Amino acid sequence: MFHDRERELEKLNEIYSFPGSTFVVIYGRRRVGKTALVKEFLKDKLGLYFFVSEKDETLLLEEYIQEIEDKLSHHIPRYIKMKFTSLEEIIEFLLEFSQEKKLVVVFDEFQNFKTVKPSLFSSLQKLWDEKKESSNLMLIAVGSYVGMIKRIFMDRKEPLFGRVDELIKLKPFDFWNSWTFVRSRIEISPEDFVELYSALGGMPKYLLYLPRYHKGNALETLKALFFDEFAPLREEGLNVLKLEFGRFYRAYFSILEAVSLGYVTPKEISDKTGMKILTVGKYLSELTNNYEYLAREVPVTENPVKTRRVAYRIKDEFFNFWFRFIYHNYTMLEENPEKVFEKFKAEFRPFVGKTYEKIAQEFVEKLDLGFKPERVGRWWRKGEEVDIVAYNRSNVALFEVKWSNLSLKDAKRILRELERKAELLSLKGRYKFGIIARSIEDKEELREEGFLAFDLKDIIR
Ligand SMILES: Nc1ncnc2c1ncn2[C@@H]1O[C@H](COP(=O)(O)OP(=O)(O)OP(=O)(O)O)[C@@H](O)[C@H]1O
Ligand SMILES: [Mg+2]
Repeated sequence: MFHDRERELEKLNEIYSFPGSTFVVIYGRRRVGKTALVKEFLKDKLGLYFFVSEKDETLLLEEYIQEIEDKLSHHIPRYIKMKFTSLEEIIEFLLEFSQEKKLVVVFDEFQNFKTVKPSLFSSLQKLWDEKKESSNLMLIAVGSYVGMIKRIFMDRKEPLFGRVDELIKLKPFDFWNSWTFVRSRIEISPEDFVELYSALGGMPKYLLYLPRYHKGNALETLKALFFDEFAPLREEGLNVLKLEFGRFYRAYFSILEAVSLGYVTPKEISDKTGMKILTVGKYLSELTNNYEYLAREVPVTENPVKTRRVAYRIKDEFFNFWFRFIYHNYTMLEENPEKVFEKFKAEFRPFVGKTYEKIAQEFVEKLDLGFKPERVGRWWRKGEEVDIVAYNRSNVALFEVKWSNLSLKDAKRILRELERKAELLSLKGRYKFGIIARSIEDKEELREEGFLAFDLKDIIR
């Protein structure tokens, strides 16, 4: 059963309804669900799906001719088997076919044309420029290697620069959608799911391992998925990212590993990796702006451009987990997987705590706070931190997030502490204080006292 992606499908259908030709790029990291999305979109339309595998042009042509025959032959009067001797001829034919009838054409793993036939990008550009006005083709290029896709379409020196009408980045499911995706397939407790989500993130492909691998306990499940000898995700980070970064992947890996271990400022990363601070800066900027694997965060009350308080974070839960616990322990994992797993068990709880902060923030962004926040995020300063601050000109809400079961007494102590921290923030307005934990004893009482109090039950309501 196809799950969610409502916004993406809506966007694609809107583009489909435009008269004339459009060039759409859908990109996103491996396994995020790009192929599933385009296949779902094609279901009720006249469209062709071409997978660009890295083989000879002649072999690709055979496959593509078959697809054309399957989908289009009954739309062509007196059809006789087509002969095409190049990819260009196919593209020209499809552009001409669509002069009479709206047509969708998908090239999946579009970046592979670079190895199949590098000259295709410039011949496609010429054909497109010449024929798009008179045809009705929705051309969709799907790509997995984010850096490569951006180069093909956004680098001025490349022939296809400026030809894309819509660029859609497909992201992993958010927490809520990941939960409903998995819940419709297996019985699982919300507590276990938060722990598993900390390692798998909202990646449909990884979540789909759970029906087979879930052992009724998150730690044992993670052991089978990541730590055992034949664990399916043990090499996954390497498999996905090595191709993305190419020959120089080691430097990128060192940086990502350092960030996953909690070295989050350029200075800390430079000290940890031994790379010069200028080099680190260059890689950080590539990983943030080009590859989009890192997010650059600043305290939520500060100006993102001017502030010098910057921290980097790995956006994808899976990569964060993989670098932190698998890549970091690669050598030991070969020799003594049990030992690595024991070490992991001791460190996993605080790690889940961090993920829960993100889940809580997603929840707060959708919450009715009684005002509309302009910004929502984390705030920190030497030795002090507030997990979530949501504010506008005249209202402020502060939250502490805890991945634990709180007694009423604990909760009150935490809220008092939060009231003290409010003094450190230079925000004016009416303040509200809140707490989001795994569970809270007597949260009703806190609510009656005017506090915001939520636990996992509210998040997955
Ligand atoms: N929205 C969805 N609903 C149900 N299943 C999905 C959805 N998205 C992805 N999946 C499933 O998750 C798996 C990975 O998705 P898919 O192959 O589409 O990803 P991809 O981005 O094309 O990955 P790759 O880079 O490996 O080609 C597939 O088994 C697919 O069926
Ligand atoms: Mg795919």
